[in-house]
Amino acid sequence: MPELFGPRQTVLVTCREELEFMGKTKEIHNIITVAWHMPVSQSPLLYAIAIGKTRASYEIINKSKGFVVNFIPFELKEAALTCGKLSGRHHDKFAEAKLTMEESNHIDCPKIKEAIGYLECHVIEEIEAGDHVIFVGEVTHEQFKGERPRLFHCGGSEFKTTK
Ligand SMILES: Cc1cc2nc3c(=O)[nH]c(=O)nc-3n(C[C@H](O)[C@H](O)[C@H](O)COP(=O)(O)O)c2cc1C
Repeated sequence: MPELFGPRQTVLVTCREELEFMGKTKEIHNIITVAWHMPVSQSPLLYAIAIGKTRASYEIINKSKGFVVNFIPFELKEAALTCGKLSGRHHDKFAEAKLTMEESNHIDCPKIKEAIGYLECHVIEEIEAGDHVIFVGEVTHEQFKGERPRLFHCGGSEFKTTK
């Protein structure tokens, strides 16, 4: 129940892999909106994300073993809603959410230029959790560009922000 768990900071997770689709192999640069995520170890620095088994992003991260957590400002609310309803199997979400793709420093994965900071992660473990899978990522590179009001999800299309 999002109203009870929340508000939760909303991030955009980026990933990349070749997927087979309608008999053709296509490289997908994807973005998924994620509210279920957290740090789980300090040394080594590990970060976990819960991804639904039906998501294109599940297939991509399961295969590529890499993802980037893009921390975003409140003003990217519409982009978060777009990336949280479209599937990367059928949509180029960088184009549709009007976000700029940049290359990661240490892994073969896109990241989002408009983000306020990043965690580049290499998957070290996958934990089955009901209809989601928890990907535990070892942070291979981190960057914080500076504080801005953040985006927090309250449920549905309701969000709050920090000052
Ligand atoms: C605010 C918000 C938070 C979300 N949080 C999660 C999440 O933590 N895990 C998840 O698997 N899906 C989450 N979703 C749903 C996915 O973003 C959505 O199903 C998306 O279209 C999946 O894209 P994909 O199929 O390209 O991977 C969230 C959606 C929104 C709008």
